[in-house]
Amino acid sequence: MAKKMIGKAHVGTNPTVIAGALVNGKPNYLTLGHAGGMSMNPPIFYISCNKAHYTNAGIKENGYFSVNLPSKDMVKKTDYVGLVSGKDTDKSGVFTSFYGSVDKAPMIDECPACILCKVIDTVDLPNNDIFIGEIVETYVNEECLTDGKPDVRKINPMLLADGYSLLGEKCGNAFSDGKALMNK
Ligand SMILES: Cc1cc2nc3c(=O)[nH]c(=O)nc-3n(C[C@H](O)[C@H](O)[C@H](O)COP(=O)(O)O)c2cc1C
Repeated sequence: MAKKMIGKAHVGTNPTVIAGALVNGKPNYLTLGHAGGMSMNPPIFYISCNKAHYTNAGIKENGYFSVNLPSKDMVKKTDYVGLVSGKDTDKSGVFTSFYGSVDKAPMIDECPACILCKVIDTVDLPNNDIFIGEIVETYVNEECLTDGKPDVRKINPMLLADGYSLLGEKCGNAFSDGKALMNK
């Protein structure tokens, strides 16, 4: 098929997450599209934060951050914490904060899924700090579990694609459908 080189654009989608950290002793939250899992075992998650952000210093000081998956009824607040900085605006009361066994990063009660991460490495890109965190604890609303496991259809995360979007329909089975082409 004919393709056109369109420059250096990203193509694809990421989850929309809200990262949380304690900054100067108070919860601060910011929206991120550049975030995601890096490995299953051990469970590792990364977030990419522009160095100009208020949150970075708090993550560096405490060595922990949280990753919270907002639901679709949280669009306005999700967008808001990505538009204003903790430098100028106190965002500590935008959500109800809670803490896990380690009280070094706040999580968001209103989010159906929240992950607490301990920083194990930081990659120093020219404009961004990539915080790589090992998942310490994962909290999921009970109604979003199926057989004790997080059910992504029930969590219904927002993707950062064409603005904020929800998951589309399932179209295949991972680690399974490709077997049809094995030993042919
Ligand atoms: C939809 C959306 C996605 C964003 N994704 C990122 C991102 O991946 N990385 C980043 O550094 N900033 C991202 N931002 C910008 C920050 O969330 C924003 O600058 C925020 O106000 C920084 O907050 P802070 O200064 O309190 O840390 C995003 C904002 C929005 C609205």
